[in-house]
Amino acid sequence: MIQYLEENNLFHLQTREFSYIIQILETGDVVHRYFGKKVKHFSPGNKITYLDRSFSPSPISGNRTYSLDTLQQEYSSNGLGDFRTAALELRNEFGVALDLKYKGHRIQRGKPILEGLPSSFGSEKDVESLEIDLYDQLTDITITLQYSIFENSNYLSRSANIQTGRYATKIEKALSFTLDFPHKDFTVHSLAGRYGYEKEWTQTPLTKGKFSIGSIRGASSHSKTPFLALADPAATEDSGHVYVAQLVYSGNFAGFVEVTSLETCRWGMGLNDEQFSWELSNNSSFQTPEVLLSFTDKGLTGMTQDSHEFIKNHIVTPKFSHQERPILINNWEGTYFDFTEDKIVELAKTASQVGVELFVLDDGWFGKRNNDESSLGDWKVNLEKLPNGLNGLADRINQLGMEFGLWFEPEMISIDSDLYREHPDWAIQIDGRQPIYSREQLVLDLTKSEVCDYIIDSVSSILESAPINYVKWDMNRNITSMSPVYANHQRFEFHHRYILGLYQVLDTITKRFPDILFESCAGGGGRNDLGLLYYMPQAWASDNTDAIGRLSIQEGTSLILPASSMGAHVSAVPNHQVGRITPLATRGNVAMMGGAFGYELDVTKLDQEELEEIRQQVQTYKSIRSTIQEGLLYRLKKTSNTWATNYVNKDKSQAVFTFVKILAQSEAPLLQVQLKGLDPDALYECPQLGETFYGDELMNIGLTMPHVQKDYFSVQYIFNKI
Ligand code: DGJ
Repeated sequence: MIQYLEENNLFHLQTREFSYIIQILETGDVVHRYFGKKVKHFSPGNKITYLDRSFSPSPISGNRTYSLDTLQQEYSSNGLGDFRTAALELRNEFGVALDLKYKGHRIQRGKPILEGLPSSFGSEKDVESLEIDLYDQLTDITITLQYSIFENSNYLSRSANIQTGRYATKIEKALSFTLDFPHKDFTVHSLAGRYGYEKEWTQTPLTKGKFSIGSIRGASSHSKTPFLALADPAATEDSGHVYVAQLVYSGNFAGFVEVTSLETCRWGMGLNDEQFSWELSNNSSFQTPEVLLSFTDKGLTGMTQDSHEFIKNHIVTPKFSHQERPILINNWEGTYFDFTEDKIVELAKTASQVGVELFVLDDGWFGKRNNDESSLGDWKVNLEKLPNGLNGLADRINQLGMEFGLWFEPEMISIDSDLYREHPDWAIQIDGRQPIYSREQLVLDLTKSEVCDYIIDSVSSILESAPINYVKWDMNRNITSMSPVYANHQRFEFHHRYILGLYQVLDTITKRFPDILFESCAGGGGRNDLGLLYYMPQAWASDNTDAIGRLSIQEGTSLILPASSMGAHVSAVPNHQVGRITPLATRGNVAMMGGAFGYELDVTKLDQEELEEIRQQVQTYKSIRSTIQEGLLYRLKKTSNTWATNYVNKDKSQAVFTFVKILAQSEAPLLQVQLKGLDPDALYECPQLGETFYGDELMNIGLTMPHVQKDYFSVQYIFNKI
């Protein structure tokens, strides 16, 4: 709900749990007053404290206490006295300064869409939106601050729209938000990593200086995620204040928290200003991506559960938001490029016999793609491998009672491809310079409409040619050699224009094929962000399929992303990425704990005992699938050698507990783990333990973990309410 309290010039935005308060001062400056636990009232007695700050410049002669440098701003620019990191930097004939004053506002039910960009959505029933216009008279520039409040979801979206009037301007920087807190007492939570080790949950105490994250790879990247949380340093899983910012964007981004000289802090996120600028002619506009903000006083678990709920209800395509994901088998680690139609059918047949529901044909089915050095861009079936085409193969797979899915990497081009021979100018590269390779491939220039059209047409014609229920959309390199396709002065628009081109392609294809389940991938989690999730309801979390490596990857991914959006597969041992040999049971337990469950190995090479174990895993997953994908996730007691989680379904009738011990230890202490989120008075039976327990026993006394002297040992206990 949004209240405009005219007598105090206040906007009070409220969700289920938080309040967000903005005030228009008598000077016309629009300032931030409060973000935190919900308050019903905000009295005039809640005044801003003005102090004489000698080195903070004032626009009012004789007043040494009023300064843009010390006010909590709603959206900051520099040049007139605010020396903190600005949200906005424009350059034009008037310099860089903007004197942004309140000009007007609008409140409406529902939420306007952001043209060309992914953004959260909601109906008039659950969202209300506010736009505040800030105007600078000298440059004739208007900045519209856009807010939408999701009353029942504990989230607020923000973005900004920049409009020119009589004069053109250059945008050097345009963040989606900045927000000022009156103190700096936070621990910063972020997700760092690298290829094969994405989204490691990192916690950094905020000290003097600046904590920053970002990407200039042309993708949000394996190494950083457009997410930052600011938590009370004393926050635990179960209590404490936590603020969250998540950017709905897939390209170059930046996020920061800056401790100011007066020990307050400024928080911001948006497009990365490195390698970015945008020419805005007169009478035109520029839209920033959207950022999602949230607050909870329910600690880190509250943060996770709010994020999962919001993403499922307001980011993921409604058709898939609550739809159970099929258990799949993917042939990549099973065959790599070396397969025939019969081999694929053999794999599918074995998998179907143990209950797997979807077969996904990965890389290598098109052009002359027998290794990763050729054919990207040539989206024509390789009839030597698949003599009956995709339709023939899909037909045989459907006859086994399975759905059929297909891999693409549409944004790429191999130099050894018909597409490159015909259109070398479609690849991103600089004339006169050596191409820069990564996996021997170049990136198609999605700033060109003819390239976007080619991708849409070639992918569509394959999708129309066979009964395809699922698509894995891969992207295996970052962008270098930014194309000089535009005149020099517009060159730094390239990265953002690439992402806008990508979004247009994804929007067209996903709308054209609304029943296909799309999974994004970028060499694993190299672009696992909310921008992509808006179009594609799930993402392959990592190319690292080792059960132990996956523990931190899945923990970090599930910190914000729901289980239904996280591809998690059982693969062969020794593991292809790290060489580790882990028991099949642990590989199954860890993948099931991840989310959208599947297999990625040559099941025809397994013996009967292993196949029987897989049959049981599949059967088990079917019985807990809705609890994992739709339930609430709780992170439980963790040590340097053990991990534990449990999921509980909505009516608390089922809980799924997973415990993993990495290494056997001599004289290991007994470990008691308490479950969370169950019904305290309900009696649960656990078939794996052959016992019954009341919820309060499981949550307070807990369970003693089995003392088994084996490395990579795990258990999965399912508790069903009697
Ligand atoms: C990278 C992906 O992450 C893998 O799962 C696989 O699809 C390969 N690309 C195929 O080239």
